[in-house]
Amino acid sequence: MISVIGMGPGDAGLRTQTAQTLISQADVLVGWPRLLADFPDFHGEKQVLNADIDGLIHWLHTKTDQNVVVLASGDPLLFGIGKRIAEHFPKQTCEIVPGISSVQYLFSRVQLDMNDLYITSSHGKQPDFDFIFQHDKVAMVTDKAIGPFQIGQEVLKRDLNRTLIIGENLSYADERIHFLQPEQVQRDYDMNVVVILNERQ
Ligand SMILES: C[S@@+](CC[C@H](N)C(=O)[O-])C[C@H]1O[C@@H](n2cnc3c(N)ncnc32)[C@H](O)[C@@H]1O
Repeated sequence: MISVIGMGPGDAGLRTQTAQTLISQADVLVGWPRLLADFPDFHGEKQVLNADIDGLIHWLHTKTDQNVVVLASGDPLLFGIGKRIAEHFPKQTCEIVPGISSVQYLFSRVQLDMNDLYITSSHGKQPDFDFIFQHDKVAMVTDKAIGPFQIGQEVLKRDLNRTLIIGENLSYADERIHFLQPEQVQRDYDMNVVVILNERQ
């Protein structure tokens, strides 16, 4: 069985009991180094994820007789590894276990509702900012190429009124949350989620 498990934003206390149980019963743990590092005492096989997702899928097909746990950050089906894996395995051999996404976590921290929220990602793609700014409340998971600074510049280019809430290293000891106007956004932030808010809606 392959279990794709949502690990939440980082803090182990935010993981589900189901996630903990499946990890403790796993023969194989697969994940990015940041997530695998949480299990130094795991004695089964560990497989480090890399960008070769086709290779991962191929390899997983050779492992369906074992308990394989794929660690996914946040929620597996929110811009995560869950989508690709679910597309390639029937439900009898693959389960997806939800987790608290970094987006949900940030909204809880700032006590803002997620009603009518548009959620998107800049990971490895050029976002359609004209479409994005048609929404009053947007959450974006980002990457190094397009993050808070680039989002701020796109707001300024269009002369829009938006507040950016930037959540860095969410749930970790060095978590930082900033409420900024676009012109105040710095060039560099650690791993982050950005909320783009039209407060004049
Ligand atoms: C591939 S996406 C996965 C999103 C994940 N499935 C989720 O539900 O949070 C990775 C991006 O999620 C965001 N992210 C994940 N964990 C985070 C955290 N602890 N703090 C800030 N951003 C985080 C960052 O934008 C990161 O680049």
